[in-house]
Amino acid sequence: MSKVPVICVDGPSGAGKGTLSTRLAEAFGWHLLDSGALYRIVGYACELRDISWQDEAQVVEVAKALDVRFLPSPSGVSVWLAGEDVTTRIRSQEGSRGASAVAVLPKVRLALLDRQRKLATLPGLVADGRDMGTVVFPEAPLKIFLTASAEARAHRRQAQLLEKGESVSLPRLLESINERDERDTNRSASPLVAANDAILIDSSTLSINAVCNRVFELAASKGLVARSPN
Ligand code: DC
Repeated sequence: MSKVPVICVDGPSGAGKGTLSTRLAEAFGWHLLDSGALYRIVGYACELRDISWQDEAQVVEVAKALDVRFLPSPSGVSVWLAGEDVTTRIRSQEGSRGASAVAVLPKVRLALLDRQRKLATLPGLVADGRDMGTVVFPEAPLKIFLTASAEARAHRRQAQLLEKGESVSLPRLLESINERDERDTNRSASPLVAANDAILIDSSTLSINAVCNRVFELAASKGLVARSPN
């Protein structure tokens, strides 16, 4: 793992990690790990098999046996589970609930560890998640912890849903963001916390372009890429 450059992007839901990570991976020509998608797929695969999200032993078996593929698609990356395109399904509110529920189980996290580490191959990896810098890639040369206020994240999520033709009230979104933050931050297994050597970026009042530029510069200053793409 040590020779392959890895950039970790951790932080709470809705801070812009996905967009930042996708843009970094595209700009550098690196691989992308969307670790949240893995937890979402585990939750969904359990649902398909009528396995309770709380049944740790059975969820572990599901996690170990996952037949998952991340394929390039016109809208970015599509996620396939055993030959089924589950990209949209796993992004639903139910998909979020399932992911958050299975993500608290320590043995499930352990079962997914190797699968994530194996994705660190040349020329480099951008790893998006909650515990990339603290647990999965502790030796990564650049760790970003991207935050934003719960209100800013709820507004962004509402705009995304509106674009898809779904309308959810702001107070409900805020409530679900707060609930997820609470669960992600307070679980005992790999809680959401910034690594000691992570660089904190608050995106509440920054455009996504400004955030990307800052990270491009950091990557260039660490010698991970030849120069900033902008
Ligand atoms: O990033 P996301 O919203 O797709 O993540 C879905 C859930 O999975 C979220 O509740 C946090 C959890 N998760 C995690 O525990 N560890 C990760 N590395 C990534 C996501």
